[in-house]
Amino acid sequence: GTVVLAYSGGLDTSCILVWLLEQEYEVVAFMSNLGQDEDFDEARKKALNLGAKEVVIEDQKRELVEDFVWPAVRAGLIYEDRYLLGTSLARPCIVRGLIKTARKFNAGYVCHGATGKGNDQIRFELGCYALTPDIKIIAPWKDPKFYDRFPGRKELFEYARQHNIPLPVTPKAPWSIDANMIHISYESGILENPATHPPEGIFQMTTDPEKAPDTPEVLKVGFKAGVPISVSLTGDATHVTNPLEIFTTCNRVGSKHGVGRIDIVENRFIGLKSRGIYESPGLTILYKAHQDLELLCLDREVRKIKSYLSTRMSEQVYGGFWYSPEFEFTNKCIEESQKLVTGSVTLKIYKGNVYVLSRNAPVSLYNEELVSMDVQGDYDSSDATGFIRLNAVRLREHERVKETINKM
Ligand code: ARG
Ligand code: SIN
Repeated sequence: GTVVLAYSGGLDTSCILVWLLEQEYEVVAFMSNLGQDEDFDEARKKALNLGAKEVVIEDQKRELVEDFVWPAVRAGLIYEDRYLLGTSLARPCIVRGLIKTARKFNAGYVCHGATGKGNDQIRFELGCYALTPDIKIIAPWKDPKFYDRFPGRKELFEYARQHNIPLPVTPKAPWSIDANMIHISYESGILENPATHPPEGIFQMTTDPEKAPDTPEVLKVGFKAGVPISVSLTGDATHVTNPLEIFTTCNRVGSKHGVGRIDIVENRFIGLKSRGIYESPGLTILYKAHQDLELLCLDREVRKIKSYLSTRMSEQVYGGFWYSPEFEFTNKCIEESQKLVTGSVTLKIYKGNVYVLSRNAPVSLYNEELVSMDVQGDYDSSDATGFIRLNAVRLREHERVKETINKM
């Protein structure tokens, strides 16, 4: 049968490609261009040389931003209070491309190179099953036929030598990297011990904040219904409104000023704890801008419910449930909550930090006259006395009960 392989161009998926041919599959190699720094022409040649019947390289950058990053910004997604989900958001986007390719080639199988201990296997497989219920999944790192043959890197290198699979020219970094335009992640290898500091020079996307420019950058992000619609830099004439450009502009500024580095221990869906180092410059800026505008625009009680939904949605995305009824429902509710989140936020980006300078909304619940200390407005201050006294009923009762119990 025909199998579509999620191909990265690296050693592992190259060995998997050749191994699939040995198992007598026809292999279509699929690569998603998500803005990662990659020589796609070189990777195409490599896959064809190894025997792929076809190589499909899909530019999914715009799709990634509009269909995955924007809903995340609107919802304020953040996993375990810190991780902006750079890998988690990219997976369902890749799955879309993978499945489109499987349909095109009438392939009954898809194959991925994720391990049996991680989150990515779940995201790939759940996504594939959801979009094509009868698809069959080949996961070599979970198949004893494969992993018994490759118990370590040594065997993989040996296999590569035997089958003319080009070995990486630069020695492999002693950790695993996943890169797309949202973020780069570094995990495993020497980073596995959470007590180890991140080695000097590990970050590829952002400047060390200590070496960042001494002059801050001031940037204004416009939102409509919770979604970014423009970015302008006050320093130059930059003003962009195209989604991809909005995102890359935020990335450029964030990278230059060292924004968005984190080093965390997280709970994988599988149940293991893992240590990860991530950098997501642009998304960090957008997350903070949105968070600020939301407080200006949202009703207090709506915000509480939305905040609960946002936590649920972060878990759904992290756990691979993008294509699920609960995600569709949550996402829709959040969209509803964001109707009034329209306006702009001005931020100062400086040495790894994002400072909010001001915000502005054409229509908002913020009523300057009503809140002003200098104006009476449509508000009777003497009402506040009763409001506080009624709230005190419960508190006084509480104290009375405590005193009584203490005397018993
Ligand atoms: N731990 C992060 C997540 O689960 C990053 C995963 C990185 N994946 C990888 N194949 N290196 O989203
Ligand atoms: C992997 O296990 O393939 C990478 C890490 C993860 O998916 O969480």
